[in-house]
Amino acid sequence: MFNFIRLSALFFFLNISLFFAQIYKNPSENIEKRISDLLNRMTLQEKIGQMQQYNLWEMNDKVLEEVADGKVGSFLNAGSKEDKIKLQTVAVSKSRLGIPLIFGRDVIHGYKTVLPIPLGQASTWNPDLIKKGAEVAAAEASEDGIHWTFAPMIDISRDPRWGRIAESCGEDPFLASVMGSAMIHGFQGENLAAPNTIAACAKHYVGYGAAEGGRDYNTTLIPEGELRNIYLKPFQAAVKTGVATLMSAFNDLNGVPATGNNFTLKKILRKEWLYDGFVVSDWGAVSEMINHGFAKDGEEAAVKAVNAGVNMEMVTENYKTHLTQLINSGKVKVEWIDTLVAGILRVKFKLGLFDNPFGINPSKTTLTNTNKKIAKEIATESIVLLQNRNSTLPLNIDKINNLAIVGPLADAPADQLGTWSLDGNPANVITPLKAIKKEFGHKLKIYYSKAMETPRSNDRKYFNDALEIAGKSDCVLLFLGEDAMLSGETHCRAFLNLPGKQEELIDELSKLGKPLILIILAGRPLTFGNVANKVNSILYAWHPGIMGGEAISDILFGKVSPSGKLPVTFPRTVGQIPIYYNHKNTGRPPSPNQLGRTLGTPENPDGYASYYLDVDYTPAYPFGYGLTYSSLKYSNLSLSDKTIKLDDTLQVSVSVTNTGNFRTKEIVELYIRDLYGSITRPVKELKGFKKIDLAPGESRKVKFSLSAEDFKFYDINMNYIAEPGEFEIFVGGSSNDKDLLKEKIILK
Ligand code: BGC
Repeated sequence: MFNFIRLSALFFFLNISLFFAQIYKNPSENIEKRISDLLNRMTLQEKIGQMQQYNLWEMNDKVLEEVADGKVGSFLNAGSKEDKIKLQTVAVSKSRLGIPLIFGRDVIHGYKTVLPIPLGQASTWNPDLIKKGAEVAAAEASEDGIHWTFAPMIDISRDPRWGRIAESCGEDPFLASVMGSAMIHGFQGENLAAPNTIAACAKHYVGYGAAEGGRDYNTTLIPEGELRNIYLKPFQAAVKTGVATLMSAFNDLNGVPATGNNFTLKKILRKEWLYDGFVVSDWGAVSEMINHGFAKDGEEAAVKAVNAGVNMEMVTENYKTHLTQLINSGKVKVEWIDTLVAGILRVKFKLGLFDNPFGINPSKTTLTNTNKKIAKEIATESIVLLQNRNSTLPLNIDKINNLAIVGPLADAPADQLGTWSLDGNPANVITPLKAIKKEFGHKLKIYYSKAMETPRSNDRKYFNDALEIAGKSDCVLLFLGEDAMLSGETHCRAFLNLPGKQEELIDELSKLGKPLILIILAGRPLTFGNVANKVNSILYAWHPGIMGGEAISDILFGKVSPSGKLPVTFPRTVGQIPIYYNHKNTGRPPSPNQLGRTLGTPENPDGYASYYLDVDYTPAYPFGYGLTYSSLKYSNLSLSDKTIKLDDTLQVSVSVTNTGNFRTKEIVELYIRDLYGSITRPVKELKGFKKIDLAPGESRKVKFSLSAEDFKFYDINMNYIAEPGEFEIFVGGSSNDKDLLKEKIILK
């Protein structure tokens, strides 16, 4: 009887497999079986073809031939939707095995509905909202046949000189992990094969944000402990979240370029984290290993990248040119090539491309009101109120008759989009000028002067216009900062002040004695300590995307309270960089009585501590900082226990009360400090946050729970452990001591 059942089962499966002779084409087969069936059928050339990604700006016949010959596995950019259909049709119907292409593109902060830059998105501290933003981006991009985005960028960025800080989630490993994972969830959804989802790519693996001098592509030196405790954290979280792909970075990490780095790509990513998706090199990063002086030529670069585990080469053609020969000579093992190609095929199968190769989202959601509403919500929550003297904001519309809107960024649609907005169209942007005129134009007399041709202008020829309209107004809204082209890839700065003649403009306007509101649009933290005391209020709006104007207007006029908080420390001056909240204490920590000293008094130093003679050691604005229109009181920090064991969970709660008269959201932050350890530990580490909504007078108990996992770190021997000892637990509204309540626990 048993044999009979076995035989019938065998017969049944034989039949099925005869029916679907090509297992890899059978959608009901298990993906791993489909992969191995397909690999068995592929020639070496076809395998190498899968590892090649081309950039394509313009369709041409040569490329179509290569697709038909199975010599390319992926494109980035790849023209219009029609071009993609054409390429894919050739891939699936003319190439020998019909393996579909995967089309990638930099959908970094929204597609056509451009959202705030990622650094702005991180300022919302609202992962649910950020996830929705990525869903919008994925749905819109997949309408155009894009299968894969090169986002999120989760490089820890402690250096605002670096232009790419704009693309990051800031300086903190915990916040970047939470926000990066939210983006991945949003892009990929529950099911990669669904028509409205796309594959994500965690980049740039790894250490890219630590470029020396904040200069793009520069050397990075990160000790292993720091790498594991800080820089790798968001990538580990991304892998846990199920990110489909990773991108290997340009930088040389501790002497080994990230794109040929066995330690990070093989040992950590594949062996420790068991990653089975695929890694694409950054643009030309395989060839750049020659410039790094890490490879003699393209052949050696190919060996090093392949053997480290870079599955796909972006743009350059070292794999295509050299891999056959390298396999023949035994420098690269064919079994390893199979593993790398399997990684690529796995993602293509998961995306459903073998069954539905075009992967085009049929629903028409691009730029719908729903999408714009999400973009506006993100922009609104991304805006950080840095200063609000005498509660100048929100503006009371009943007390203003004449309003001056001044500055080169009040009506600069393209700049509002920020860096990496390939598919954004300035025509879809609502600028602050447009939004304010639309909403209040019938109630107020609104004057507008650009004052400067661009944010970088060095002449004062329009200053008089600006001063004239400001002079006849009750209030001045001044829109300054950086144009989009000042931030992003390669757009690094050695000076972080407001560019051009902006400070002089502030100077002149401030002399009028009118309420002066400074709204800064920028791709990075800027230094503006010289002028902060000349304006009443400062709103930091980043590059806020297409709906930024409405978001700013709503905040200025009090429809909603600002609720963003900084995901990165704002230095007082470039000379303080690197400056970040989770630093070490040092043997000679400075103390608050060393603050506010007369500058430049070397003959009178205030003790031998770690500070500067010529500027305070504290930042201009700390990580986690941001004001609201209300006032908040934190009280009753309570812990479930004062002594905990490794397997215990510590319950932490705090009461937060809205003591002002404005409804607001508030971000409640939880930090820990491991007071002593087998290695020195940061003075604070963010371990949790909650964003809550409070009506005036309302009080809420906010709860967190901490487990041993939250107290762990990599020790000197790279063991991931929590060490017994004393810990401080802080809860409050920023990383600054004065905004935090504190308790102590003992971990046994
Ligand atoms: C950037 C990547 C980007 C790639 C493709 C590179 O220059 O570093 O972040 O995804 O280009 O456009």
